[in-house]
Amino acid sequence: MKHLLEVNNLSYAYHTLQGETLVLDHVNFSIEQGEFVAIVGPSGCGKSTLLSLICHLLEPDSGEIVLGDHKKTGYMLQKDHLLEWRTTYKNIALGPEIACQSSLDLSQKIDTMLTNYQLDGFRNAKPNQLSGGMRQRAALIRTLMTEPDLLLLDEPFSALDYQTRLSVSDDVWDILKHEKKTALLITHDISEAISMADRIIILSARPATVKKEISVKLSCPGERTPFLSRSSPEFKDYFNLVWKELNHDE
Ligand SMILES: Nc1ncnc2c1ncn2[C@@H]1O[C@H](COP(=O)(O)OP(=O)(O)O)[C@@H](O)[C@H]1O
Ligand SMILES: [Mg+2]
Repeated sequence: MKHLLEVNNLSYAYHTLQGETLVLDHVNFSIEQGEFVAIVGPSGCGKSTLLSLICHLLEPDSGEIVLGDHKKTGYMLQKDHLLEWRTTYKNIALGPEIACQSSLDLSQKIDTMLTNYQLDGFRNAKPNQLSGGMRQRAALIRTLMTEPDLLLLDEPFSALDYQTRLSVSDDVWDILKHEKKTALLITHDISEAISMADRIIILSARPATVKKEISVKLSCPGERTPFLSRSSPEFKDYFNLVWKELNHDE
């Protein structure tokens, strides 16, 4: 298999007492190793359901999800789910602790991560002593401890205020590039998608199908970052293109 992830003809419906709700209707796309892909779509179209299917919290009604051999997914949500009674270090160590991997290597690895991503002064702080941005970095590092090959990010910045959102997008981008991770970001924020993604997949309203895929190529002075992307000359044209797709439901 040449793709890291293939989603083939994926369909899914929820069944409740009120009846059946078809949420995903023959969804097709793939993701290459090292890509940063964003998925945008109207609220309630089935984006979170799609991620739950990709990480096997739900099973497809039809179609398939093929993840490369021995590849793992990691999940990061809007709410950071840090445990308030544990320190930053202990929150990050939670996954390995549950898997009974405790070692000197592990504590060195966590300390390196804390230093690399500007949390070393907060090793023993509780989550309520961290800023919104720091909490999201800690949550991302915790997710990375399980060494996922594909990061699934479900609107991870939407609970943050605008300014924090901009700086956290840059931080998360830095961390993911530095750790050479492949990422699938769900967002309803068009600018966020353009500023971060190599490719944008646009979903239709429910039941979601793939309406369009757009490769994002921006000219940035120096190396591309989400922040610099926003002032690239092509940004506005991409915005209009995605906006038009999202607002033309034929
Ligand atoms: N557990 C559930 N049972 C029944 N319907 C659900 C359930 N979860 C989500 N839905 C419905 O499925 C649709 C898609 O939900 P979701 O995937 O959360 O959308 P999105 O993340 O794009 O906003 C929505 O209409 C929602 O109400
Ligand atoms: Mg959602």
